[in-house]
Amino acid sequence: TTTQVTIVGSSNVDITAMMRRLPSPGETVLADSYRLTPGGKGANQALAAALAGATTEFIGAVGNDSHAEIALGQLAEAGVVLDRVKHIDGATGVAIISVDAQAENSIAVISGANSAMDEVAVRAAGALAGVLVLQGEIPASGIRAAIDAATGPIVLNLAPVIELDRDYLCRANPLVVNEHEAALILAQLEGTAELSTDPEAVIAQRLCDQGLESVVITMGGDGALVAQRGEDSASITTVAASKVTAVDTTGAGDAFTGALAARLAIGETLIDAAGFASRFAALSVQGHGAQASYPRSLENL
Ligand code: RIB
Ligand code: NA
Repeated sequence: TTTQVTIVGSSNVDITAMMRRLPSPGETVLADSYRLTPGGKGANQALAAALAGATTEFIGAVGNDSHAEIALGQLAEAGVVLDRVKHIDGATGVAIISVDAQAENSIAVISGANSAMDEVAVRAAGALAGVLVLQGEIPASGIRAAIDAATGPIVLNLAPVIELDRDYLCRANPLVVNEHEAALILAQLEGTAELSTDPEAVIAQRLCDQGLESVVITMGGDGALVAQRGEDSASITTVAASKVTAVDTTGAGDAFTGALAARLAIGETLIDAAGFASRFAALSVQGHGAQASYPRSLENL
């Protein structure tokens, strides 16, 4: 079988504490419980792509600690190819996550082994088949090397936003970002420090004016906006989100990105793929954790 989606990126163990409200700086709150679950934007997206029906490979790095097995467990179970995952002498990435009763979260990532995914490591991995998916949780040199080695379309989820040259940014088709990330990248491309407060459609148009072929802006409960560059102006389509009650939105953006890549790889249009991704992500926010909450059946999608 040929690989339809290759994901080069991060894998973490998420240590998530559930609490009534998030502490303010200097404050201690009592949490109700905590969980240790697999996470990391790259790994989350790989699981989502596999569950959304694509033959998927994940290329990343884990440590030689007990967290490594947790980090890769769900991926292995879902049949994601892990042959090129690096096992380094050190710690697996960890994310410290707090989630409150309103499903609001805050996340701090300790990169650990993910820092090993630099230019040398990605070059050594070799050819990258199918739709290539990248995020901002590995070194920029690794992201550039992956873009250089891509053989198919590139889905770039630049979360968190890191510095990337225009030439590399513009290889994304699509760039997938939330509203805040979109404004940050636009400022980078336009060479200003000021963050635009324009509506998403205008920001997406301006990103296309800067050379991007297509942009998907995820807007949580408001769905997603799909912009595709045209002759004069970009064509803009909004994909509605299903109305759901959110329990934990951690990894919802990753569910969206992975599912989107899978549907593109299967041959769907960007708009159809975004519609599917939005339904897939809506199911994920109704369960705790990132990977654990991704739908295991495509029946209601
Ligand atoms: O996007 C959610 C992910 O961000 C979490 O799983 C955590 O590991 C961080 O990488
Ligand atoms: Na979830």
